[in-house]
Amino acid sequence: MNRSSLSPTVLVIFGAAGDLAWRKIAPALYSLSAEGWLPEKFAIIGVDRKEMTKEEFIGHLRSGVESFCRRKLDEASWSTFAASLSQYHSGDLTHPDTFEVLAKAIGDFRQQWGGAANPVFYLATSPTLIEAIATGLGKAGLGRNIPGSRIVVEKPFGRDLASAQALNRSLAEVFAEKQIFRIDHYLGKETVQNILALRFGNAWFEPIWDRRYIDSVQITVAETIGVEQRGGYYEHAGALRDMVQNHLFQLLCIVAMEPPVSFEAEEVRNKKTDVLHAIRPFPTEAVHRLAVRGQYGAGWVHGQHVPAYRSEPDVSPDSKMESFVALKVFVDNWRWQDVPFYLRTGKRMAQRVSQIVINLRPVPHQAFPEIAVDQWHPNRMILHIQPKESILLNFQAKRPGPTIRLTPVDLHFSYPDAFKTESPEAYETLLRDVILGDGTLFMRADQVEAAWSLVDPILQVWESNPPTDFPNYSAGSWGPEAAQVLIARDGKSWFEGPEDGE
Ligand code: BG6
Repeated sequence: MNRSSLSPTVLVIFGAAGDLAWRKIAPALYSLSAEGWLPEKFAIIGVDRKEMTKEEFIGHLRSGVESFCRRKLDEASWSTFAASLSQYHSGDLTHPDTFEVLAKAIGDFRQQWGGAANPVFYLATSPTLIEAIATGLGKAGLGRNIPGSRIVVEKPFGRDLASAQALNRSLAEVFAEKQIFRIDHYLGKETVQNILALRFGNAWFEPIWDRRYIDSVQITVAETIGVEQRGGYYEHAGALRDMVQNHLFQLLCIVAMEPPVSFEAEEVRNKKTDVLHAIRPFPTEAVHRLAVRGQYGAGWVHGQHVPAYRSEPDVSPDSKMESFVALKVFVDNWRWQDVPFYLRTGKRMAQRVSQIVINLRPVPHQAFPEIAVDQWHPNRMILHIQPKESILLNFQAKRPGPTIRLTPVDLHFSYPDAFKTESPEAYETLLRDVILGDGTLFMRADQVEAAWSLVDPILQVWESNPPTDFPNYSAGSWGPEAAQVLIARDGKSWFEGPEDGE
């Protein structure tokens, strides 16, 4: 699609002086601009409480691009991009004056461009401001009555089912569902989208992608970082809200969904929502068997001593908040009945690795003599999401020699080796989709609510039974022992193979 065929767009960033705009949004927009992906008629308006001149705003975003963009800044591309940074308004983000100024600015662009100027409102703000900003936009006539108008909302989207429903209702008063883009940045990752290509673009895998051949699935999203400067936020969130309700459940949906009839946004989202509806609810009395929580103590990560969660900035010294979660999940449908999905995520883990491991069932009959198969284990596929971007098929091969000995070997596809090009950042993909109005990779209201309704009982049980053993894992480990027990009870173990990690 060439630039002139993209609809003229005015991107309004609320919270334009904040961290997200600086680290993620500006670098992504700069990359899109440098690669010619933005519309020919394109303008950015920054809005933030912070006092700044437009020149200071441009300088601030430039430093974000210089520090965080995957592309090195070049002056020609920067000056093209900087030309689209057209206005900066400082003031109260929810005051009626702010919306009047915006309505006028958008009207001016419409005139200047001789027709359409689709406003995209990106809320890179605290979630507490979402409702007030949406209402303000509605009152200023910038909501559903402008057909090309869109609102982009970051996570966290609510903190439980009731608050997410309330938020959905407020947004629905101003925008149609098709105009609401709820971001889950995991969906913008190339390797996550590639799971769809792997499953539905090939004949190899789908015939065995079910309970007849798959024994279990493991989804791990492990981070080596701690809560960094986000203690204030994290103390009200924890790993279940911060990672599982959104990112891990979305990965699960992509692995478990039925083949879509088309890649239309609603079709893909319907199929993913079906998975959420099929996940077996966590009854209160089973939470202790199916869910494990943990919090890191002090320890060593990459040879450096790091503090306990409770000693991090803005964290209570007796905090009960979890920085690790492991869950055992079942998807109750024909394809997946009785196949366990083990999910885990944590901060300050031994390695930074996001991966999905598909473990196949053993061969039905082992014809080789015992000596031939002493190293044998069932086949598995590993989808590396990050930091490696690769897919690995592990199977048995005959070890060279006069006798038959089987040894596991790997077939390996690596993104960087195969394509010799760098993958775009998730935010590049997502921002471009917002501009195109393509909601496939965004969370729909019912998906968000379905995910919260699964997580709510766990939150309730955990809140009414505060943990007594925190901290229960050392920084730099693979989490609490209870997570090993969760999976060991089924005679399995977490995959921490030599292939993963940085
Ligand atoms: C965010 C969480 O959504 O995802 C963070 O709020 C987490 O706590 C981050 O660190 C992980 O994202 P990524 O892309 O680095 O895996």
